[in-house]
Amino acid sequence: MMSQQIKISDHQSKSILEILKAGTALSHQEAEKKNLAKKIIDHTISLEEYKKLLFINWKAYRSIEQYLYQNKHILPNELTSLVSYDKSNRLQKDLNALGVLLDHSQENSISCPENSSVDSLIGFLYVIEGSMLGGMLIAKHISQCPSLEHIRNPYFFSGKSKDQMKNWKEFCMYLNNQKYTESNIQKALDAANKAFTFFS
Ligand code: HEM
Repeated sequence: MMSQQIKISDHQSKSILEILKAGTALSHQEAEKKNLAKKIIDHTISLEEYKKLLFINWKAYRSIEQYLYQNKHILPNELTSLVSYDKSNRLQKDLNALGVLLDHSQENSISCPENSSVDSLIGFLYVIEGSMLGGMLIAKHISQCPSLEHIRNPYFFSGKSKDQMKNWKEFCMYLNNQKYTESNIQKALDAANKAFTFFS
């Protein structure tokens, strides 16, 4: 598992967020190399590749959002407002606007086998909320891609940083005010690395 690259036992000097960032750095590097979003940044993406990226993202976010919904009752109150279908709904609107209709059988086929614990939910939330930071960068390049010129107001890569940063800041503030054991952190880290695999 990629999280082995950092020593969780050093955690007393590091915050859980720092450990999650360091412990998912390899997963993130892989995502940056392999995810079709890199073709938005170098402006070479075709319309078909953009649709594929939106579809892969839709399945990944939908699956994680469903898992979070199913386990919302075990989350602390401070984090329940982060549980929503906002990201997959925005992706669905983008896909629909491009003529891609998602049927319910695709939606139902998604499942998340992760054992549920608050720690694993935190790992999944870390990835989907943190990914919005990269999303803001990617959004700036959409209008510069020749194949995407006609897409005026995307819902997902919208660059609406204010809303996206609000959730991220709330999430970070909550984590920074809690105490975590090595075991809590390891579970969150394992779940975060697992969450990355949904996007490949
Ligand atoms: C081409 C693809 C991608 C690019 C260019 C990209 C870029 C970025 C950038 C610029 C940041 C902000 C870094 C910082 O402030 O230190 C970030 C953060 C992050 N991204 Fe990505 N990203 C990409 C793909 C992904 C994917 C597919 C995921 C997983 C769904 C993801 C998850 C995250 C997470 C969790 C963070 C927060 C890191 C932290 O500060 O703890 N990224 N990304």
